[in-house]
Amino acid sequence: MNDMRLTERDVNTKEIKIEARQVQVFYGTTHALKDVDVEIEDKTVTAFIGPSGCGKSTFLRCLNRMNDTIDVCRVQGDILLDGEDIYDKRVDPVQLRAKVGMVFQKPNPFPKSIYDNVAYGPKIHGLARTKVELDEVVESSLRRAALWNEVKDRLDAPGTGLSGGQQQRLCIARAVATSPEVLLMDEPCSALDPIATAQVEELIDELRQSYSVVIVTHSMQQAARVSQKTAFFHLGNLVEFGETSKIFTNPEDPRTESYITGRIG
Ligand SMILES: Nc1ncnc2c1ncn2[C@@H]1O[C@H](COP(=O)(O)OP(=O)(O)OP(=O)(O)O)[C@@H](O)[C@H]1O
Ligand SMILES: [Mg+2]
Repeated sequence: MNDMRLTERDVNTKEIKIEARQVQVFYGTTHALKDVDVEIEDKTVTAFIGPSGCGKSTFLRCLNRMNDTIDVCRVQGDILLDGEDIYDKRVDPVQLRAKVGMVFQKPNPFPKSIYDNVAYGPKIHGLARTKVELDEVVESSLRRAALWNEVKDRLDAPGTGLSGGQQQRLCIARAVATSPEVLLMDEPCSALDPIATAQVEELIDELRQSYSVVIVTHSMQQAARVSQKTAFFHLGNLVEFGETSKIFTNPEDPRTESYITGRIG
């Protein structure tokens, strides 16, 4: 009996994929994030919620060094991926971003064919040696993104010719094509209708089997539907982090409670 319980607990204990310690972010003199400490689990969907301007996108961009591309932005503190400092000088940000993929708010397919949108990453990272292998990666990525059946007969058509929801799923296919370990999604459904949103949410739930997924969302219903862990940010502080069910039903901090009940936002 005891053994059984131990096994169950082991199964429920997820590995820590990303650990942030005392993260500070400045844009020039604006102190956008203050002392953020958080542990992001593997094979879990973590939602970042909080009012506009509280630092959700800023923190998401810390996790794959997208902030490096913003001149005035300075990041301090430690961010570890599998225990390794991602800001170490030896880390190549391009390789890092293949491991920690990102999907943006607005679908942004390359001005290329559907096929090439997905094949691009595996090509530049040398993940496919032959055309057959590349075809396989493209097909499996489009399948994972629940888009294959809709596009398999027009892989040479431009990615920009798809509907908004299809374009977003194409961007997800592009992100999963490099076999990332973490997928960062910044309001991935805000440009989508309810049907496409439901498809993407279903997909997020599936991706959780293989990846650690972090999603920024303004929709509390969405956070409650798709995530197991939730982080609430307010004015640059990570106010509360925990089980999604707990954050939404029994938050500890009055600021979290005000936000989820719609009093601040
Ligand atoms: N490129 C930038 N240059 C200067 N300041 C920035 C930049 N990006 C963000 N900021 C500032 O950092 C703070 C946090 O912004 P961030 O975009 O992370 O918020 P957010 O929580 O994602 O908001 P939203 O929900 O509106 O997307 C804000 O005060 C914002 O003005
Ligand atoms: Mg944002």
